[in-house]
Amino acid sequence: MPETKRQKATLGSLYDKMRKREPITMITCYDYPMADLVEKAGVDMVLVGDSMGMTILGYDSTLPVTQDVMIPHVQAVRRGTPNAWLIGDMPYMTYQPSVETAIRNAGRFMAECGCDAIKLEGGAAMADRIKGIVDAGIPAIGHLGLTPQSVSALGGFRVQGKSAALAKKIVDDAKALEKAGAFAILLEMVPDRLCKIITERAEGCIIMSLGSGPDAHGQLLIYHDMFGLYPKFKPKMAKVYGNAGEVILNGLKAYHDEVIGKQFPKEENWFGMPDEELEELRKMLE
Ligand code: KIV
Repeated sequence: MPETKRQKATLGSLYDKMRKREPITMITCYDYPMADLVEKAGVDMVLVGDSMGMTILGYDSTLPVTQDVMIPHVQAVRRGTPNAWLIGDMPYMTYQPSVETAIRNAGRFMAECGCDAIKLEGGAAMADRIKGIVDAGIPAIGHLGLTPQSVSALGGFRVQGKSAALAKKIVDDAKALEKAGAFAILLEMVPDRLCKIITERAEGCIIMSLGSGPDAHGQLLIYHDMFGLYPKFKPKMAKVYGNAGEVILNGLKAYHDEVIGKQFPKEENWFGMPDEELEELRKMLE
């Protein structure tokens, strides 16, 4: 497949796509080799999500992830994808305590990792954090619907905003984030009709969908869900584009069998030594 020759994504290029109703693509990513592929595929936005707590580190939630754990991953992704719009996901308790905490920690993703933007979870209650970060010159994305850092309060990983009353709260939260200056809002696992309403009402704010239907300005998927790399479950919203997990597992089994069966390694897999050097070595060892 030909690689996309790409230019650096900017806020301007993203807004341009939104205005022209060209769908915007976004994916999570957590390391250098994945980021290199994402770069070559031409994906617009890359989120180093605190979902890495689950996909990479094997926790049952995102809550144990710290910013110090995330930073080397965000740096690696930046090295792999210099041109995608890179977003650092603010982990649990790096922005909730105060506006000042939020600004300082958002600044770490920008200064230490070369991010283009940050993302944080929550609605009207977090609007002052978004405003503070944006006023500090850092583009910010809000995240509504299923917000995994509040999984306990939300009653589990489930669709949000199914009733009119709860849907109205999400519509109001989206407006609050937009007014606070969020350049984009991610809607995770809300009904498609609610996503459509929020997208229609957005005034210059990019609406992204994760499992929230086709009417947003763009789509996000989690890398590990797309390629069969998360062993615990496959969310309904994820489409599997290839089973890399199966390919790797088959390769590992073959390697294990070949070593046991003495079929690996073969001559092309090791490094030789000239006869005279070997002779010399033998003499030295006598
Ligand atoms: O951490 C993450 O990857 C996220 C997505 C689920 C949106 O926040």
